[in-house]
Amino acid sequence: MSYCSYKTESVSAYDLKVLLKFYSLSCEPKYCEEIRKILGKHVLKGNQIKSVQVEDGGKTRKLLLRYLSQLPARVSIEDFEHISSDFIQKEKELREYLYLTVSSEQSFENSAALQYLKELLSYELDEYQVSYDVRHWPLSKILKLLVSDTVSWPSSFETVGSIIHLNLREDLLPFKFLIGNILLAKHYPRIKTVVNKVSETSGPFRTFGMEILSGDSNLVTEVKENGCIYELDYGKVYWNSKLEAERRRVIETFSSQDIIADAFAGVGPFVIPAAKLKRCIAFGNDLNPVSVEFMSRNILRNGVSELVTTYCLDACSFIEQLIREEIYFTKLIMNYPSSSSDFLRVFKGLYRGRENAPLPTIYCYIFGRGPDPFKDALFSVLRGLVGTTDPPFDTSCFGVRTVRDVAPEKFHMLVEFELPAQVAYDEKT
Ligand SMILES: C[S@@+](CC[C@H](N)C(=O)[O-])C[C@H]1O[C@@H](n2cnc3c(N)ncnc32)[C@H](O)[C@@H]1O
Repeated sequence: MSYCSYKTESVSAYDLKVLLKFYSLSCEPKYCEEIRKILGKHVLKGNQIKSVQVEDGGKTRKLLLRYLSQLPARVSIEDFEHISSDFIQKEKELREYLYLTVSSEQSFENSAALQYLKELLSYELDEYQVSYDVRHWPLSKILKLLVSDTVSWPSSFETVGSIIHLNLREDLLPFKFLIGNILLAKHYPRIKTVVNKVSETSGPFRTFGMEILSGDSNLVTEVKENGCIYELDYGKVYWNSKLEAERRRVIETFSSQDIIADAFAGVGPFVIPAAKLKRCIAFGNDLNPVSVEFMSRNILRNGVSELVTTYCLDACSFIEQLIREEIYFTKLIMNYPSSSSDFLRVFKGLYRGRENAPLPTIYCYIFGRGPDPFKDALFSVLRGLVGTTDPPFDTSCFGVRTVRDVAPEKFHMLVEFELPAQVAYDEKT
């Protein structure tokens, strides 16, 4: 089989149709349903092909049998579950076989439909041609048809709104545009673009390099999560749908009395549901101006403009500004796992002279590495807070848990703790 590796915008660049020729019966509409019952398992079913085709403006029905009159080109008959090659070019044998089978049917003995069917079976069976769209198949099977038997497709893919995001294995790269086109053809119009990740998530904005394999190059899309809707540009801002459950779990712990601050808020998946679902006042900050632009749009879109305020500052400046403005947040989210702990230094002496203000609970997301990721995550947080793993306060109430595994011996962890008074009222250095 051949393949094309050229890039194309067209979803029909590949021949995704297979011609199938079935034996069929032309019958009057009034008998069709009963004949179908009498013929039972001999009628085509499944495979996304309608077994009853309406013809002559509704005057005739074609009832497709599960028997092919010819072997199809390009595909193997085993690719279709219910279709049989038993009577290829043996029309007469099939007809006689069906005649004998239905004649022994006791339950329809006196029915007019059975008499009618027997009469139909005394004439030659028709042939009915169907153009079968292999888009219904799983991708691995389509690739086998279009590329070669040797390509396997074990990977799954991620969907972000109307974008399919692939992380293709090296051996699949020669077929990347073909794969992109097939996926687009399979899932269009719900999916508008297929991209492949070409470099690791990096830089302060946590975006990654991607190549558009097929479809629209505009990566602005919409996602629904935890009862809210988000618009985002997948090429310019951070988004990870795998965190939906984690974000829900944290939001569930909020009450309407809470004041929420998110120092690394992205397009708003913590602050917006906190306001919408829990009626919290919330402050969302991100250094990436594009994230803040989308966060602002999402705040409007979700009807929470009266509750959520945005900032576009470095996380430390954001936290300092809130305290300066006497906005005493009760919950602070810090989801920047590669660097969150570096920002904890901001708390040293931050509440000095403000001893009546409530100290916040901090949700610090961090990577935990090595054989004991719990200890590693806790130690990173302590080093960030006080520069040592042996702090002058009790750490037994610091909660540490795994959010998800990212790579071998690398976990996305959450360290949850109340800001220790020893840090908050310490002398500033
Ligand atoms: C891992 S993402 C988390 C985004 C969001 N909380 C979410 O769950 O989708 C980290 C975010 O921190 C932002 N960021 C990176 N450095 C920052 C800094 N110094 N101050 C504030 N935000 C920063 C990035 O732009 C990115 O949106």
